Amino acid sequence: MPQKTDEIFSQQFHQNPYDYYKEIRPHQPFTKVKLISGMETWMAFSYEASEAVLKDPRFIKDMRKVYPDEVTDENMPPIMSSMLFVDPPDHRRLRNLVQYGFTPQKINALKGRVEEIALEQVERMKGKETVDFIEAYAFPIPIRVICELIGVPEKDQMDFQRWSHVLVDVMDPEDHEEAMGEFIVYLENLIEQKKLTPQADLLSDLIRAEEDGDKLSKRELIGVIMLLIVAGHETTVNLIANGLLALLSHPDQLQLLKENPDLMPQAIEELLRYNGPVEFSTDRWASESFTFMGQEIAKGDHVIVSLASADHDPQVFSNPERLDITREKSPHIAFGKGVHYCLGAPLARLEGDVALRILLQTFPKVSLAVSESELEWRQSIIIRGLKTMFINLNN
Ligand code: HEM
Repeated sequence: MPQKTDEIFSQQFHQNPYDYYKEIRPHQPFTKVKLISGMETWMAFSYEASEAVLKDPRFIKDMRKVYPDEVTDENMPPIMSSMLFVDPPDHRRLRNLVQYGFTPQKINALKGRVEEIALEQVERMKGKETVDFIEAYAFPIPIRVICELIGVPEKDQMDFQRWSHVLVDVMDPEDHEEAMGEFIVYLENLIEQKKLTPQADLLSDLIRAEEDGDKLSKRELIGVIMLLIVAGHETTVNLIANGLLALLSHPDQLQLLKENPDLMPQAIEELLRYNGPVEFSTDRWASESFTFMGQEIAKGDHVIVSLASADHDPQVFSNPERLDITREKSPHIAFGKGVHYCLGAPLARLEGDVALRILLQTFPKVSLAVSESELEWRQSIIIRGLKTMFINLNN
């Protein structure tokens, strides 16, 4: 049986992880992997193992509980005190504070605004022959939306892009620390400004919760804003771009969608499954020693889930390597599972739907400007996304 785990996160792996998963999943559904950094981790590749990890409360998120002597608030950035990196009951308290802003009803009310933003972006592309789809369209839409929702000035978005890229890509630890420091100082200043002039936005609401005293600490306030900015920056851009790429490389499915625009919601689910933006879950840690999927887990062990591999598991999805936008009731886990299930899922679905619909209506003859093999994937430990994606608008 091939132990190919040392390839994981190599450039070659990022170019086509699905072939790799196909080979490893049946033999090693849940296995120990040595990462390029030398760190050992358990990794779930099958759907069954992935779902089991995400739902098992013995795999916890809060490193401070597993390594209390080494990990403290002082040596961890505030994002580690946000809902994504803590466990119940703190998790519930933190999620409740922002959940009201992300319900399907609240998000549906944003539809008109998301459409306006998408139309402005296509307007800027008109008349050009070739554009980098990520820079011109897939990236600006979700950024502008999340900035408006939180109440962050749009002019600062280029800084966010740099900071959040550094946080999720494999990069120099020094760059990482510097970016995190700048990001924190920026948010502290923004919070001070908003305190003086509160507005009708999520940040002003959260500041009120922090000022009330017992609901949210200052550190948690900075943490949740960082989380929302990073989640809003790094994910939906890749639903839009990976989604368009998948459609362009499957002309029959693209044609079907153009002829039946009502298939869009189903298509979005299939694009999330087929080439989803979040390839790996964030870190989990074993809070105790126990046997899991036939393996001996020791207290403190590190675990991650390959959401992308789970979503291509033939045990759950027939013909998983096939893009089929008519697939019904897909149980994909592109938004995760369990208590940390993506808070932004309704927003991401809306943005993906609006963005692809308006693009295909405006530029029905859009095509890739480079061959697929020339596309370069980002070397991220979480995100599956392209560095650039040049397209011909053929308008
Ligand atoms: C959590 C995927 C868009 C906010 C997650 C998780 C996944 C995910 C897989 C769980 C990670 C884990 O358990 O380790 C996605 C995908 C998106 C997307 C595929 C786009 C297509 C967004 C957007 C926002 C957002 C637009 C924000 C506005 C969050 C938050 C959490 C989260 C706050 C943490 C939830 C918690 O810990 O309770 N997302 N996300 N996401 N996502 Fe998303």
